[in-house]
Amino acid sequence: MNFLKILTFVLYNTYDIMKKFFLPILGLFMLFSKSSFSQKKPETDKKWWKEAVVYQIYPRSFKDSNGDGIGDLKGIISKLDYLKSLGITAVWINPFYSSPNDDNGYDISDYRGIMKEFGTKEDFDVLLKGLHDRNIKMVMDLVVNHSSDEHDWFKQSRSSRTSPYRDYYHWWPAENGKPPYRYSLFDINHDAWKYDSTTNAYYLHYFSTKQPDLNWENPKLRQEIYDVMKFWAEKGIDGFRLDAFQFASKDTTFPVWPDGYEKDFIKYIAMGPHLHQYLKEMNEQVFSKYNVMSVAEGAGNTMEDAHNLVDADRKELNMAYAFEGVDIAKPNGYSLLHFKNVFTKWDSAFANNGWLSIFLANHDQARMVTRFGNDSPAFRDVSSKMLTTFIMTMRGTPYYYNGDELAMTNIRFDNVEDYKDMPLKNEYVYLQKTGGDLKKFLEEQKISSRDNGRTPFQWNSSVNAGFSMGEPWLKVNPNFANINAAAQEKDANSPLNYFRKVVAFRKNNPVLVYGKYTLLDKANPDVYAYTREMDGKKLLIVLNFSKNDASTKLDLKLGKLLLNNYPSSTSVKSDKIILRPYEARIYEVK
Ligand code: GLC
Ligand code: CA
Repeated sequence: MNFLKILTFVLYNTYDIMKKFFLPILGLFMLFSKSSFSQKKPETDKKWWKEAVVYQIYPRSFKDSNGDGIGDLKGIISKLDYLKSLGITAVWINPFYSSPNDDNGYDISDYRGIMKEFGTKEDFDVLLKGLHDRNIKMVMDLVVNHSSDEHDWFKQSRSSRTSPYRDYYHWWPAENGKPPYRYSLFDINHDAWKYDSTTNAYYLHYFSTKQPDLNWENPKLRQEIYDVMKFWAEKGIDGFRLDAFQFASKDTTFPVWPDGYEKDFIKYIAMGPHLHQYLKEMNEQVFSKYNVMSVAEGAGNTMEDAHNLVDADRKELNMAYAFEGVDIAKPNGYSLLHFKNVFTKWDSAFANNGWLSIFLANHDQARMVTRFGNDSPAFRDVSSKMLTTFIMTMRGTPYYYNGDELAMTNIRFDNVEDYKDMPLKNEYVYLQKTGGDLKKFLEEQKISSRDNGRTPFQWNSSVNAGFSMGEPWLKVNPNFANINAAAQEKDANSPLNYFRKVVAFRKNNPVLVYGKYTLLDKANPDVYAYTREMDGKKLLIVLNFSKNDASTKLDLKLGKLLLNNYPSSTSVKSDKIILRPYEARIYEVK
């Protein structure tokens, strides 16, 4: 192991590593052989989860009902009619299980309990019923690559080498020397092994020291997890999002990684030897027995992995959630040509088999409009609407992150004290210790930190944006006086009302769900144009991703303009379309 090399790499590539950890490795697509999939029949099976519009709720920041500054289940319940009014058909709610909150609920201490800050089991029942009464499905986060170190399993496991729970986690006896190095994303020293003196052994944690990795090679552990899943499925939830699951299977001999692994360390920890076997088992025991959908976090290391995870014939998961698209935006911007390539590649990969998620933001990303659009006052609303149009007109299931329907923006904290995100704070301390460039780090966080996407939902212009009567756990973005739901309700042209319009449009046009996608005007650096077609119906979507007027030469005779993100449309001259900054249009064409 070359520790210096790792250190250097980490210091200079923090941003990339952050992103990479949540996403499958790219660049191995050459391995993908089209022929192995082309024999399959097209994926035309109609399924509710393909037609769904999923809205992601970050419960800690959505609505606080009791003034403790922390969003909660009763808060979501109080906003059920708002959810219904959006037209969305499913919600994915980030974890609300019992948790000491080292990583905002992604460290679970009781898989059957509700986090005390979030409410009670009764609140959960009311919430689920309230959603179902409004024909909205509930997708739960399933965090089972790791638990909290405060989970009873871990407490038992750590207590003695002979505990029946010992093998629920990965332990390395210290008398065997130091374990082979493993990279931890969240650890303050990026070391995934933590020494524990109770039994003179190291335990494995790919995330923080308070998130020990569960040992999936142990059949007893797997059964425990399936039982937990059945517990929630019995209650009537409609789906699971499998957090960090591609890391679950490990080569438990823990071989020494070859030199140079640090460039591609995800390759060594994702898609372990038995992952597909576990997913098939999970499918057999849980998914096939209940009407629940399953979405992976990530899509494996290669296109082939992605297919194998979600090919319907293999009976593993329903849909992949590939990060290559959301990862395109870097602190210094991105190229639309790259964006088009990536989304086109993923569409064609799933044209015949398997299913994909479409998203541009989530709780691990900064705000959509800041990263992919333009959050300056002149272009914020229009660019956000254009991005919304993109998400709602692609093939795949759209996942839309709460607050993006208002065009909420990054908060851009100046001080590290304002951030609450554990890995960010750990990284800051690490850089402090190792003499890293703290200024550069803080500048980058203004664009990339996850906390930008976690500031409280901006409901209205009253105190704390109507999120809470108490002091919010994370600062409210001061722009709430301008950007808030109440103001946008009243404005027919607001991002909020546009979102409703496009969601309804997608629901009324199944061609947007199942129709074939074709990229047009490929080399245009400013305009993304594509058609979706099915059963003789053809829609043309034209999106200007730039802050200037842009034109596109399309060899299609334009038809009827059905939707536009500008209040009134510009005139169309012959086959040449002049698009205003960030303009989005949907035409019906022949
Ligand atoms: C996933 C979650 C992220 C969390 C991590 C560890 O990537 O989306 O929020 O920190 O897993 O559970
Ligand atoms: Ca609360």
